[in-house]
Amino acid sequence: MELPFAESYKIKVVESIRRSNREEREKWIHDAHYNLFQLKSDQIFIDLLTDSGTGAMSDKQWGGIMTGDESYAGASSYYKLKDAIADITGFPYFLPTHQGRAAENVLFSVLVKEGDIVPGNSHFDTTKGHIEFRRATAIDCTIDEAFDTTIDYPFKGNVDLGKLEDVLKKSGEKVPFIILTLTNNSAGGQPVSLENMRDVRDLANRYNKLVLYDSARFAENAYFIKLREPACRDKSIREIVAEAFSYADMMTMSSKKDAIVNMGGFIAMRDQELFRQCSVFNIMFEGYITYGGMSGRDMNALAQGLYEGTDFDYLETRIKQVEYLGNMLLDFSIPLQQPIGGHAIFIDVKRFLPHLPKEEFPAQTLAIQLYIEAGIRGVEIGTLMADRDPVTRENRYPALEMVRLAIPRRVYTNNHMDVVAVALKNVFDRRNEIKSGLRITQEAPIMRHFTVELEPLAT
Ligand code: F0G
Repeated sequence: MELPFAESYKIKVVESIRRSNREEREKWIHDAHYNLFQLKSDQIFIDLLTDSGTGAMSDKQWGGIMTGDESYAGASSYYKLKDAIADITGFPYFLPTHQGRAAENVLFSVLVKEGDIVPGNSHFDTTKGHIEFRRATAIDCTIDEAFDTTIDYPFKGNVDLGKLEDVLKKSGEKVPFIILTLTNNSAGGQPVSLENMRDVRDLANRYNKLVLYDSARFAENAYFIKLREPACRDKSIREIVAEAFSYADMMTMSSKKDAIVNMGGFIAMRDQELFRQCSVFNIMFEGYITYGGMSGRDMNALAQGLYEGTDFDYLETRIKQVEYLGNMLLDFSIPLQQPIGGHAIFIDVKRFLPHLPKEEFPAQTLAIQLYIEAGIRGVEIGTLMADRDPVTRENRYPALEMVRLAIPRRVYTNNHMDVVAVALKNVFDRRNEIKSGLRITQEAPIMRHFTVELEPLAT
């Protein structure tokens, strides 16, 4: 008999979580103005808000915490991290930042100016925010297949080369760089193929443009390449990662994802002059070059995390857990982005609650219902997050209205996944009783989803 699959680690430290009852949750979510970001963590049983900074560090990472070098300048922890980044990505220059969006802020301070156009594959919301904040425009050139959740296409994160070339032809002089997000978070944790990266590089070379990878989930992307791209079947994750980065000029990293740390980020690049220019902003916004927003101990944990995060056995364990949840949901006929993504399940709310008008924030409505059902916190990736158009101030209605259930790394067991699946099935079974959605009572001018206040349209 073939042995069943099991995790490639065992558990050394645990943290208690508390169940609550429906009555408590109804009160808590009311007090939180129907915004899941406003809940307290002890009001949540299973927290799938994000896979960012929520992973469990290993014993070796905690060991690194104890031996961090906290020197202001020239810390050995900085050099350890520099070596790890160069080893894994091939980039000789790097700057630590406190997280991914800080890396964007520093790099874009050098590269993005008013009137610029930054094409890419579904920019993450902070990336888009940093572009729009500089009065520049982000243009989404993702392939159309990504926006139909029923199409089973292996690389839904890919850039449509035709769309990208149109932008370069029409407004090439305004494009400072092309951005590839690995994996494509907004389209459902979908990977970009190595072939697509190569083609984007060729196109960038023809138009003399830089290529930036937003690399938050670069290792999960490499796992999918190994499994789905026939030419890469026999390559190791590390070989795929090295080849992928060879097609980029620079990267921003939110280390809170694939490097399995609770806080941290960095920018890495090939060009010394760009490094020098970024250093000035890094010193102003983050900290001196050799710590830039991170403590020495955290740089140690990050260096170790980069190796663990690119280990095949770890990645297999991780992505199979996401798949385990996704397959249960599919068995319950719950509509979701297919194929199942790397870090999360993305529920297709236009198919889950087709009777709710888009103006009533159906994805947020579903996320609230799932919380009330079982204390599970997901996140809306839909109209709330898409925000208003910066010029017209009209609501933007994205092609996909989704609830994301992001799975923290090495944190929950498959028993927790069983609870999530059944809770969602219960909501699905009573979906026709959800007759109306929500209305905004308070919102911020940019990135409103974090602090927005809402109320139900019917009580
Ligand atoms: N890029 C991508 C693709 C991301 O998913 C994120 C964060 C960032 C950049 C920004 O990094 O949070 O370290 O500042 N994504 C989190 C999420 C917040 O829940 O998907 P950060």
